[in-house]
Amino acid sequence: MTDSSAPSAVWETRYRTGDTPWEKGEPSPGLVDFLNQMPLPLKGTVLVPGCGNGHDVRAWANAGWNAVGLDIAPSAVSSAREQTPPGMKAEFRLGNFLADEPFASFDCAFEHTCYCAIEPVDREAYAKALDRWLRPDGYYVAVNYLIPDKEGPPYGTTRDELLHRFSPRFTLIRDFVPRSYPNRTDLERLFVWQKKP
Ligand SMILES: C[S@@+](CC[C@H](N)C(=O)[O-])C[C@H]1O[C@@H](n2cnc3c(N)ncnc32)[C@H](O)[C@@H]1O
Repeated sequence: MTDSSAPSAVWETRYRTGDTPWEKGEPSPGLVDFLNQMPLPLKGTVLVPGCGNGHDVRAWANAGWNAVGLDIAPSAVSSAREQTPPGMKAEFRLGNFLADEPFASFDCAFEHTCYCAIEPVDREAYAKALDRWLRPDGYYVAVNYLIPDKEGPPYGTTRDELLHRFSPRFTLIRDFVPRSYPNRTDLERLFVWQKKP
């Protein structure tokens, strides 16, 4: 019997019922600018946990990366695959970013509305998972949602909380307010981290 309160079932139901207010039909504007204006000093493999319909994954692929989207909801993975043109270096896998053993060691991970989607109690598991999925010196690029909400998802966070959470394992290279979707203007912050050796 399926546990309807399990995260995978909860997210799957949201996709099946069309209850997806995060879905904007395009990649994160901050990510688009970042890829155009501030490329990382390499182009390799990138993992996008909680990729949803895969817009951000395809943006990385269009920028020359081998991009892999991971999502816990089967309908998100199917939809992302359907929206991806043949030949694009973008693939999608069903899995649990927090719990699964990594199937590869990535050069980069990209975060966009996954950290605010998981239960706050799982945030330390998220930081540990990042450490597992990334190669030494790998990059972690995040567009975080800095809202005050304690009831979620989305669950809010602050710059201070993120620095406290990731600094033990990652070095902050830069952070700034990116361009956002109209309803998120000035509520997002883009962070570029590098995993400590
Ligand atoms: C708020 S949605 C954002 C989707 C996408 N990043 C976007 O911005 O359109 C959060 C996504 O994270 C996925 N998710 C939640 N927990 C996850 C986990 N532990 N592992 C992988 N995906 C997860 C959900 O299924 C959902 O697609």
